[in-house]
Order: sequence, then C-alpha cells, then structure tokens
Amino acid sequence: MNAPLAALPRKALAESACGASPVHESAVAHVTGQARYVDDIPAPAGTLHAAPVLSPLAHGRLLGLDASEALVLPGVRAVVTAADIPGDRWLASFAHDEPILALDEVFYAGQVVALVVAEDERTARAAAACVRLALEPLPAVLDVEQAHAQGHYVLPPVHLCRGDAAAALAQAPHRLRGRFRAGGQEHYYLETQVALAIPHEQDEWTILSSTQHPGEVQHWVAHALALASHRVRVQCRRMGGGFGGKETQAGHVAVWAALAARRVGAPVKLRLGRDDDMRITGKRHPFSYSYDVGFDAEGRLLALDLTMLVDCGFSADLSGPVADRAIFHADNAYFIPHVALHSYRCRTHRQSFTAFRGFGGPQGMLAIETILGDVARHLGLDPLEVRRRNLYDERPCPAWTAPLPPGAHPLPARRDTTPYQMRVEDNVLPALLPALAQRCRWHERRAAVAAFNAASPVIQRGLAITPVKFGISFTATQFNQAGALVHIYTDGSVLVHHGGTEMGQGLHTKVLQIVADELGVPLERVRIAASDTAAIPNASATAASSGTDLNGRAAQRAAAKVREQLAAFVAGLDGCGAGEVRFAGGWVSSPARRRAFDEVVREAYAHRIPLWAEGFYRTPKIHYDKATLTGRPFYYFAYGAACTEVAIDTLTGELRVLAMDILHDVGRSLNPALDIGQIEGGFVQGMGWLTTEELVWDEQGRLWTTGASTYKIPTAGDLPLRFRVELWPQPNREDNVFGSKAVGEPPFMLALSVWEAVRDAVASARRRAGLPADGPLPLDAPATPERIWRACHAA
Ligand code: MTE
Ligand code: MOS
Repeated sequence: MNAPLAALPRKALAESACGASPVHESAVAHVTGQARYVDDIPAPAGTLHAAPVLSPLAHGRLLGLDASEALVLPGVRAVVTAADIPGDRWLASFAHDEPILALDEVFYAGQVVALVVAEDERTARAAAACVRLALEPLPAVLDVEQAHAQGHYVLPPVHLCRGDAAAALAQAPHRLRGRFRAGGQEHYYLETQVALAIPHEQDEWTILSSTQHPGEVQHWVAHALALASHRVRVQCRRMGGGFGGKETQAGHVAVWAALAARRVGAPVKLRLGRDDDMRITGKRHPFSYSYDVGFDAEGRLLALDLTMLVDCGFSADLSGPVADRAIFHADNAYFIPHVALHSYRCRTHRQSFTAFRGFGGPQGMLAIETILGDVARHLGLDPLEVRRRNLYDERPCPAWTAPLPPGAHPLPARRDTTPYQMRVEDNVLPALLPALAQRCRWHERRAAVAAFNAASPVIQRGLAITPVKFGISFTATQFNQAGALVHIYTDGSVLVHHGGTEMGQGLHTKVLQIVADELGVPLERVRIAASDTAAIPNASATAASSGTDLNGRAAQRAAAKVREQLAAFVAGLDGCGAGEVRFAGGWVSSPARRRAFDEVVREAYAHRIPLWAEGFYRTPKIHYDKATLTGRPFYYFAYGAACTEVAIDTLTGELRVLAMDILHDVGRSLNPALDIGQIEGGFVQGMGWLTTEELVWDEQGRLWTTGASTYKIPTAGDLPLRFRVELWPQPNREDNVFGSKAVGEPPFMLALSVWEAVRDAVASARRRAGLPADGPLPLDAPATPERIWRACHAA
C-alpha cells in the first residue's frame, strides 16, 4: 500500500540498527504460529478453568445466588463469590469504587457476579449459564445527558477557563452553536482478556497475564489476596493487541483467576470468550458535546465555550485522566484566546469506560475539528485555510483589558500558549500542513470534487485535511519513569529486561535496536526477556505512547553503563583513556588493538568485571498542577496531518474512502517500517471509530453488539488503493532517544480527516437537496450509513 518495504533500509547497517527497519523481533514467530500468547503456554498439570457469571440487569439489588444446578454438573469444582475474597472486596483501582465481584448491588448488565471453576473451559461456561441470580430491578441511568441532568457523576466536574469566553462570544462578529455526540469503541484486540494464575509454595504466585501493566496486575492481585507484593510475580511475553483495553481491564481478569485458584488450590485459567469480553470490559468513552463558538470574518477563533459530557460508565476507572486529556486536546493545534472548557464525568449503568488509543485526545480533538469545519462552511471559506489561520504561532495575542471572571487564567502574550498555559515550542504544523496540501494537490482536488458533485445526482464526494498535535507524556508526572536491566553472558550474548510490554507495536524491537547500537553489536546478539515484575519493579503501564521514550532510554542507559565498565577494563589493558575505546559492528577497538566483543566479554569476566547493569530514566521538564490544570504536562508534541477523500451514496448512506495521504511526524524514526505500520494501523482504527464501529445497547442497558457479526471493525476491503504515508524528516527538538518521537497513539487522530470529509460530502448533498448546510450538521459519530443517509435528508 505504501512505499514498498523493499525501499526501506531493512538490514541494520554495520554502524547502526536504529534508523533501519529490521523486522519485528517476533515477526517470523507471529506468522508461523510459534509466538505464544497466554492461552498457548502449556498450563501446569491440574489446571482448572473459570467462567464468569454475569448480571443480566443494568441496575439491581442482588438478593441471592443459587448455584445448585451448576455444582451438580460433572467436572464442576466450585462457584466463587465475593465471600471467597480474603482481602479487600474492592479492587485496588484509583478511585476504589469497583467491587471485585458484585456485593449486594449490580451496576451494569455484564457485571461479573461470580465465577464457576471446572475441569475444562466448556464445562465452566455451561455451568456459569446455570447459576441463578435473585435480582430486584432498580432504575438505571443509561444516557449521559440523563446522568448529567440528575447529577450522577463518578468524579467531580473540571472547568478550564482562560480569558472571558462569555464576553468575547457576545462581542464576536460571528457565532455558531451546536451539539453532537460521539460513540464509544470496542478495542477488539484479537486476543481476548486472559490470565493463568498459578499458586506455588508458601503463598507465592505466578500470574501469566495479557496485560499492558504487569505491575498493576501484581498490585491488584496482592491486594485481593491480602498478600505483600513480593509474593506475586506477573509475566507477559506479549499481547495479541491491547490498544488501552488491557491497561486496567486485564487486572480484573487476573484477580478473578487468582481468587478462583486460591479457592480450589490449583492453577486456574480464565479466558473470556469474545461476547463475554465485550459485555464485561470497558471501552472508549462516549462523549456528548455542546459548543458556542465566536470567530471573525476570516474564520479566526475568538472564543469557545465547550461542554463535554463524558460517559464514564458505572465506575471511575481511568475516566479522570481520560477526561483531562480530552480537555488538553480540545484545542488540537489551534490557538483560541478565550476558552471555557467544561468536563462532566457522568456515571451511567454501563461498562466502565476505559483507556483506548488516544486516551480522550480523540474525543477532545473531534470537537474542535468539527467546530472548525462548521466555521469554514458558515463563512464559505476554504477549510484548510481556516485551519491554517488558527494554528499556534508566535504572533501577539489580541489584547483584552476588561476584568476576567474568577478562576480564569489570563490571556497569554502570544498565540503560542495552550489553555493549560503550556507554550507550544516545537510546532511543525505551519510547515507540515502546506507540505501535505501540496503533496495531495489540495486546491486542484477541491475544485475537482466540487465539479464532480455539481454533475452527480446520487454520489457526492468530500475532501478534508486535518492536523494532529498530540501531547506526549503521562499527565500524572510520576508515571513518567522507567527501569531496565542489560545482562551480557560470558558468550557475548545480551539479554534485556525492561518495564514495557509488547502488544504488537514493536516496542521490544526498538529497544533491541537501541541496546545493540549502544553496545556496538549486531542486532542478532541481543534478545528481549518477557516483561516480568520480578525483574523490573513498579513499572508504569505501557501506555500514553511513551513505551519507547521511557523504556528505550532506560535500556540505553543500562547498556551504556555496561559498555563503560568494559571500556574502562580495555583502557586498563591497553593503557589508553576509556573514552578512546570504541564499540561498533561487534568489535571493540582501542588505539592499540581491535578485539571481538565476545573476547572482551570473556576477558572481562575472568577479571571479575560486572557484565550487567541497570538503567533508570525519568522524563525531564514536565510538571503539572492538578488543582489549576496548568503546567507542562507534556514533554513534547507529536504532529501530523492527513488528507482524505470520500464518496457517499445519498440514496443508501453508504461510504467509501477513496484516497488518503498522510504526512506524520515521528521525529528521527527508530524504525521506519514499524512507524509506518503504527501510522497505518492507528489511522484505520480511528476510521473505524468514526465510521463503522457502533455499540448498541437496548433500553434495558444490555449490549447487543458483542461480536464481529454485529460490530463492524474496518477490514482491508475498506481501505482505498491510494493510502500514502510519509514521514516528516526532522528529529525531535527535545532530547529524546535517537531524536525519535512517540508514534503509538497520535496517528489515530489523523482519521478525523475521514470524519471531516464525510461531513463535507454530507453538506454538499444537503445543499443539492435545498437543506441548510452553512453551520452545524445533524450528524453524530460514528457516521454509519443510516446516520449519513439521515444527515443528507433531515430538515
Ligand atoms: N499497536 C498494536 N499493534 N497493538 C496495540 O495494542 N496499542 C496502542 C499503540 N499501538 C497498540 C498499538 C496504544 S493505545 C498505545 S498507548 C501504544 O501503542 C503503546 O505502545 P508504545 O508506548 O510502545 O507506543
Ligand atoms: Mo494507550 S490508550 O495509552 O494504552
């Protein structure tokens, strides 16, 4: 689809693995089926299997549970309830508001009430269906607007205000008001949630978990079992996809497996079927927006009042930081002088919504991109030009002398400061956006689309370019730390442990490249160990796209330490300075002699020189005050832009994406093939969120889209023939490993160009039909065929 891979430098050059595109460290194992996921790892003899019993009600009182029918089935060993929890019955989550298993109330349809343990998985699942729950229905809140109206929140609201939005709106020459909604999104990792809990002697445990955060699984399991953390060891070699869905949600499954294992005194595996996984686990937060925007005749934003109702589901989980990130990205790439951003964290009787690629960023950016589309259409201006005019830059901010409302931050001196008072110092968009426009022939194609639409009664086309500016770092400053261990064995082979996890994104491959270069050895010399809480303690989740930034740097430092130990040793032998000893291509050279790396290692061992070291990294410069929502929450920003052309059928609402061009900033790429893969994958996943992936709950709050037959993720057939991805050629301006930038999440939001292209086509269809199209459009996300059809025809 892209520049053929052959065009990329595949083989590590003698001098450098970083910057080349060696294949994923598990590529061959993936395609030959040798790569083992938790369910493939042979379980110890005597392993039993668990299956969950789910609440059928969205809200109700749990009066009792009758397991007699399940317990008499052959092969059934036990039914596990909250009464079997030796420790705290509440999960050790941030807000401490989730029962591990339902206590006396159920909060959503799909909540796990009990577990059945049996000799095999089929029996366990069949028996789970025989457990009878005595439930008394209670009124359920199933809509975010209703939750807001009734004051149901999981966390208090957050308001971020700068300047005086109300006064600036009143004075603005142009003003638009609108409301719309965005749906949630199922992660649809190919490997569903799974854990194998193995009890050992003296209350020691091993948990094999498909998790982005082994350290949290360890903490949660220890908490539930009332054990100290050092008795619980969690390992994860790889996940079959996580996408944020295994940041906290893997913990529940591991805790359930461990409780079941404790109850029966044997290893227990819990693997959720796809339908149960979709019914039980959290998804992307649905949002409901209302906005009031003021702007001038050139389309420059003057003031924005934006309210975001965040559907958090029944518990807080990660909703606080997700909703915060939505606030931090409600500006996307644009300077808005007067802003009032209101975020309500609403509690509904649904799955507890959780992390998903972009972590609230997509929901924040969807709002401002929709608003800018409306502004451009209202003024009849080129939408790319309107976006360009609003980009952050260094011009002075318009003055405002009137007194500000209480709590509002003052206006900055220049148009380079975000509402949370962070200066945008590394903005590449003023150069990147025109570069993309030129590559995709924006002006020519806009004229062609207009001509096509004028002559086409049924099919209408749309074209859009949207930029991305995405903040890199965990907003909770403390998570921005990482550790690693580099071991060299006496044969010269190298093993790396680090705190990150592999979910397909290629983190391990990048870390191997970094370590190989640091030691000056060929890539084949270095291997990665499975993520393991016994090797690296207290590691953060592999999330916020910062896996390589954090763990890559920690591993680099560990490797540098071992190399310095070896260099000092060689310098002693050869009577030179340690700085004169070079490591490259598997050789160690001093001014006096050149030796093979293996030889140096052997000699060093004989001289009792340590052949391993640890490395630690903490991200510099970041700080952030939670009370005022100001500071520098992000070390840097990743940028990009995409151009998408679509066609819609105004009679059926069907959508086809015709062409996509992407120019994306990964800094100096550590591995162009992996980075382009992340960009393609992220874009397509974002396209799914905005077009085909619709979660449907019924009036009772039961989720009906629980599999691939009803929940439509994009497939290869949904991709256009023209799908071009190019990398922006400049290195990170901040000191980041190899000059690279994080790539995991930012490209997801390039898909906003699909959304804007669809709205461009819908507006054209409405104009043809004589319907109003010069402001907000009656369209919610995802833009399914039904919604597109209605948007084309609704008065
Ligand atoms: N790519 C693949 N193939 N599978 C995944 O599960 N998760 C995404 C992204 N890319 C994911 C992926 C998410 S949500 C994040 S935060 C990052 O990868 C995490 O990895 P990184 O920090 O190493 O980029
Ligand atoms: Mo990604 S949502 O930060 O796991």
